[in-house]
Amino acid sequence: MRKILVTSALPYANGSIHLGHLVEYLQTDIWVRSQKMSGNECTYICADDAHGTPIMLKAQELNITPEKLIEDTYKEHVEDFSDFLIEFDNYHSTHSEENKHFSSYIYDQLKSNGDIINKTINQFYDEKAEMFLPDRYIKGECPKCHAKDQYGDSCEVCGATYACDEIINPVSTVSNTPPITKETDHFFFKLSEYESFLKEWTSADTTQAEIKNKLNEWLTDGLSDWDITRDKPYFGFNIPGETDKFFYVWLDAPVGYIASHKNYCEKHSKDFNEHWDKNSKTELYHFIGKDIAYFHALFWPAMLEGAGFRKPTAIFCHGFLTVDGEKMSKSRGTFFNARTYLNHLDPEYLRYYFASRLTNKIEDIDLSFEDFQSRVNSELVGKIINIGSRCAKFINKDFDNKLANKFNNENLIKECLSKTNDVINNYENRNYSINIRLISSLADNVNKYLDEVKPWVKIKNENERELVQEICTDGLNLFRILIGYLKPILPKISNKVEDIMNCDSMTWANLQEVQLNTEISKFQPIITRITKESIEAMKNECSGEKK
Ligand code: 2FM
Ligand code: ZN
Repeated sequence: MRKILVTSALPYANGSIHLGHLVEYLQTDIWVRSQKMSGNECTYICADDAHGTPIMLKAQELNITPEKLIEDTYKEHVEDFSDFLIEFDNYHSTHSEENKHFSSYIYDQLKSNGDIINKTINQFYDEKAEMFLPDRYIKGECPKCHAKDQYGDSCEVCGATYACDEIINPVSTVSNTPPITKETDHFFFKLSEYESFLKEWTSADTTQAEIKNKLNEWLTDGLSDWDITRDKPYFGFNIPGETDKFFYVWLDAPVGYIASHKNYCEKHSKDFNEHWDKNSKTELYHFIGKDIAYFHALFWPAMLEGAGFRKPTAIFCHGFLTVDGEKMSKSRGTFFNARTYLNHLDPEYLRYYFASRLTNKIEDIDLSFEDFQSRVNSELVGKIINIGSRCAKFINKDFDNKLANKFNNENLIKECLSKTNDVINNYENRNYSINIRLISSLADNVNKYLDEVKPWVKIKNENERELVQEICTDGLNLFRILIGYLKPILPKISNKVEDIMNCDSMTWANLQEVQLNTEISKFQPIITRITKESIEAMKNECSGEKK
């Protein structure tokens, strides 16, 4: 049995979960569920990322404390995830005792290695708001193309990136006043000390090829020291021994993985060290978006190495979500919150659709509503689920719920079961779209068979009754196998099918055991087709939310 720890990136505690986030949580959840079906000990860990300037400012804007903001957001996130059938083994917060402990511990270790240095820097300071300003809170004129109203670090008009002090006529977006520059002492992590470690770490199969190339570019350009300090006021953890200085949110965020796991181990009496010891034999995977590869593939392994922890086995990056071919946008009404979706549509539709688009590549994936509706309706409902209702009908009505004691077409069952290892491997390799294609083509074979043998015609002939029972026994066994193959993607539908088939919770192992001579329950509707109206209603609700 493998022992595996899996994480998804920790969502910020100042906003709602949206469909873009869900690509990752669904990708991870499907992977974890497949591992659990193999009988592996796979633990899925996550938490809210609760620190930083945006959270502090959002709380000020709402006139509440940051603690209250993160508490409310936590509840909302947990509910959204749960309603999308995303099953974490533990969902914690980075604003926790465990995280404070491990962040300080790691910092102290790095410091004792001599990896922390002190530098005096000049930073923009907002005298009215009495705070130092992160780049994103500065706006001004682009030094290259002179476009007005551009961010402190990059220009949306000409695409230039620049140092914050190059921007012309800077203004603080917090108070709308021009900032001054002010000196401050910051602690930096000397990432360059870890260059040879990181070169070796990234040369192994720890990331996909595209990310590896990017990492090599960064490593060739040379690694700069990383500023891990933020001055007060800041919502975060104090740097040990300092009263006015805090850890930059990106220092304590990934430590949140360790902290959430520690919290899980305490609650469930599990062995924590087995997973985090330097020589741990267990596996550790981080699922993340391509935009945060720098943090996860450079800073994070270096921090772990420096503090004497194990390193990730691999980092799995995915692309962004586009909606009907374009970047999600509030003004175009294509920025859908998880809850807006749930108000109108079943979560398993989206789970199925995202799975049908997900590969192990870093390409963006597109949600096209036309494709979404037609795939779910014709493939999932019309083709796959329909096999169950076509066959259960006769078993319920004409055979007193009883399956036959032999198959009519055992070959088809064997052929379908022979794909189990391919299905498992495709999940393992995050090639969910290949699985959907495979399962859909197996369903085509089953439907073709049923169309050929026509149980609905044979049932009228008394001599062929037994044959109909066998054919429907074929169909229902095949149906169970196909739904079993989809179980990591469609957990609720699978549970309904387990109820109908009166079988144990499906695993990759027990899926091989066929059902003969057993009784099924009355077939219950499993899922309905998506209507145009429900999609329109969701779009309308979203346009109403537009700011
Ligand atoms: O990019 C983000 O949304 C971050 N909150 C992700 C943090 S992942 C981990 F490092 F904590
Ligand atoms: Zn410009």
